[in-house]
Amino acid sequence: MSRYNDIDMSKWREYSEITTDTLWIIDKRDNSGVHSGNYHGNFVPQIPRQLYSRYTKKGDWILDPFAGSGTSLIEAQRMGRNSIGIDLQAEVVKSAEKSLAEEYDYHTTAKVYVGDSRTTDISSILSENEINKVQFVILHPPYWDIIKFSDNEKDLSNAASLNEFLSAFGDVIDNTIQYLEKNRYCALVIGDKYANSQVVPLGFYCMYTLQQKGLMLKAILVKNFGETKGKANQQAIWRYRALASDFYIFKHEYIFVFKKVQ
Ligand SMILES: C[S@@+](CC[C@H](N)C(=O)[O-])C[C@H]1O[C@@H](n2cnc3c(N)ncnc32)[C@H](O)[C@@H]1O
Repeated sequence: MSRYNDIDMSKWREYSEITTDTLWIIDKRDNSGVHSGNYHGNFVPQIPRQLYSRYTKKGDWILDPFAGSGTSLIEAQRMGRNSIGIDLQAEVVKSAEKSLAEEYDYHTTAKVYVGDSRTTDISSILSENEINKVQFVILHPPYWDIIKFSDNEKDLSNAASLNEFLSAFGDVIDNTIQYLEKNRYCALVIGDKYANSQVVPLGFYCMYTLQQKGLMLKAILVKNFGETKGKANQQAIWRYRALASDFYIFKHEYIFVFKKVQ
């Protein structure tokens, strides 16, 4: 058995639900229990589930500095992992807490805090929970300004420029990755965007930010976008526009996996 997950290699054929390929086609969101697609911009629970299966063990602590509706914490709770989430918006944190309480499991701890993940005192949060390191960090930042999450100027979705967005993202990395245990993993979930008739490869810029900060890149995974409520009736118009012009319609986002080696 390896040190960073609960996979029993003597039974390796039994883990057919765990993906080992770089292309993740997930057509149906897991809407079981309190999971729902209601928070615009949330990720499908299958993303944290897959990552926790590969990179965490029962009893580990997971940190999510962009917790949103709490998908990653709900999934952690279901899988016997402890979790700490941070989000800028108080009402979103409240709703995540409500979801977690509905599926409360006394074997695990799941705490969500209101704060700016660039500056929140994470050391105090960890001491409050009687730990000093976490074993996995999951990062699902705004895809810059594609979805505006709030009017708060500290919100990464309100960054005035690409450089400002990347610098704020870098500040979140500095404030969180120091608490990740050495030789453990973190994952970044992000998509690209178009601006001024060209692709802005946010995914690769953010990937590079993490590499520059000393993290070792272990995987670049490509996940399809399933049909979202908003886009369903706009499909025809986007196809028309794409055919009439020179661009392609985004149908994928990235999951980058890194190891903290130093
Ligand atoms: C892409 S969403 C995360 C969604 C989440 N994975 C889920 O499933 O609900 C990004 C989140 O980052 C939050 N956010 C933006 N800037 C932040 C900051 N400086 N500190 C903490 N949270 C921030 C937003 O409020 C939003 O909820």
